[in-house]
Amino acid sequence: MSSFHIDEATGVDTAGNGTADKPYQSLGFAIFSHGPDASYLTRKDATGTYEEPTQSSVKKAKKTAEGLEKKRQKADELERKAAEEREQRDKVLQASKKIVLTQDPSLPKPTKAKIVHLPPLRSQRVTVFGWVHRLRAQKDLIFIVLRDGTGYLQCVLSGLAAQTYEALTLIVESSVQLEGTLQVVPEGKSAPGGHELAVDYWRLIGGSPSGEDAFNTRLNEKTDPSKQADLRHLVLRGETASNVLRLRAALLSAFRQAYAANSFTEVTPPCLVQTQVEGGATLFTLDYYGEPAFLTQSSQLYLETCLPSLGDVFCVQESFRAEKSHTRRHLSEYTHLEAELAFIDFNDLMTHIESIICDAVSTLLANPATAAIIKQLNPSFEAPSRPFLRMTYQDAIAWLNEHGIQHELEDEDGNPILDANGQKKMVDHAVGDDIAEAAERQMTDIIGKPIFLHGFPAELKAFYMRKIPSKEGDKIFTESCDLLMPNVGEIVGGSMRIDDMDELIAAYQREGIPTEPYYWFTDQRKYGTCHHGGYGLGVERLLAWLANRHTVRECSLYPRWPGRATP
Ligand code: 4AD
Repeated sequence: MSSFHIDEATGVDTAGNGTADKPYQSLGFAIFSHGPDASYLTRKDATGTYEEPTQSSVKKAKKTAEGLEKKRQKADELERKAAEEREQRDKVLQASKKIVLTQDPSLPKPTKAKIVHLPPLRSQRVTVFGWVHRLRAQKDLIFIVLRDGTGYLQCVLSGLAAQTYEALTLIVESSVQLEGTLQVVPEGKSAPGGHELAVDYWRLIGGSPSGEDAFNTRLNEKTDPSKQADLRHLVLRGETASNVLRLRAALLSAFRQAYAANSFTEVTPPCLVQTQVEGGATLFTLDYYGEPAFLTQSSQLYLETCLPSLGDVFCVQESFRAEKSHTRRHLSEYTHLEAELAFIDFNDLMTHIESIICDAVSTLLANPATAAIIKQLNPSFEAPSRPFLRMTYQDAIAWLNEHGIQHELEDEDGNPILDANGQKKMVDHAVGDDIAEAAERQMTDIIGKPIFLHGFPAELKAFYMRKIPSKEGDKIFTESCDLLMPNVGEIVGGSMRIDDMDELIAAYQREGIPTEPYYWFTDQRKYGTCHHGGYGLGVERLLAWLANRHTVRECSLYPRWPGRATP
């Protein structure tokens, strides 16, 4: 080629070759590629003609070429160094294969212990099993933070223990056995539990892949939410997710303790049922040996049947709601803590709900381990003070209007009605309206503390709720309550129940519910009826409030929502 071509508009440096068909973009790059003595022709763009570059542009381009040359040399140098290091590492790895680490029989036999039980074993030899949570190599030492589900332990591998092939190729999330002496960390240094394990023997139990398949490549802070949902089984290994689950376990246990202290008996109602509780719209239906059946929406009706047998009862059971809701607080399957109390009035019911929640929270805060988890997940958490604010439904409607909180106007099918500008039409609340999630949340967040909203209109609530006595022709309200918590909204729904048989049968009829499948429920009113009431508490919602989680999805082991039943 006589001359190399440069087209400053359409040329491409790296993909060009300097022909008229494939010109370079910059003279600097062309000189870098072919040297200062070659001949060059440049043009501004395709409308111009190729001409020899001016002296000043050649001078400038030579400088650029020198810079590029320096960069290339640096890259070559880095590549050479990396190759040397690879070679060196290969040698070390080859040599490491010959190193065999054995247990020293002259050392005292170690005690096998979980991390949580290590404090009394300081200065002794111990053996611990777990997963490599974090890993750092420094000179001839390898630092591991080991995780066994009960806690985290810093471990230091030195000498031969840090030189074996397994040590040099160890990857996070491998499972290992580590043996050594448990030492208090020197003053000024910190480690979980205040001690670390000086490892003298260890073995790899199950390795973990590197490269593309490495744990931290598959899951990290940049992983998008739907991928994270697919990888929930791996997310659970993280500190936050495992802390939420640990708190959840402690919460359930605290509730059980509170119920035991109040002489409630725990029962386990069925999940497969043939009756509805909270309306047909949210029922999951299934074929049960050729008969229609549902996944339970609530165990309430079964709990009511336990009153004459066991007295006050509670259950912790999965409930299922076929709600096409993708909100922060809806799951298709959730853990439902429900209780039923006999011979009470509506006021007793609200006082009980308040006290059972406050007792459970006190138990959690009195335990240093769970208090520490709450502090970590929700640093500004304060136990709610009693009594909780009580507000009637009608006062709430007035409150919303006074505070300018409106709701969307909807057509008969529940679709928003738009104004002339295509904006959703907003209107004030009126008695009879269902207070929507957004309005309820705004009110709760403004008030900033738990609120018992009570006395909802009968037409908004389930068939079984006891009515507040009213004059003929007046709107009918119910002895019902929702407990609202800041940041989450409704966490409890409860009510007194219709205890009169005729009234109950009329309620079935009004709702178009066939009475026959409910014979066992109706029988409660036939054989020794009583004033009674109960409630259901969404465990994930309470946990979202306690642990300050953005969504209930973080509060369930394997959350289910529309379209998601994996893993
Ligand atoms: O208000 P709900 O529908 O009440 C009942 O099911 C009653 N039969 C309970 C009873 O009186 N025994 O539900 C009770 C609570 C709600 O306050 C909410 O915390 C939770 O259950 N809940 C849900 N949690 C997550 N996802 C959903 N889709 C939920 N639906 C209700």
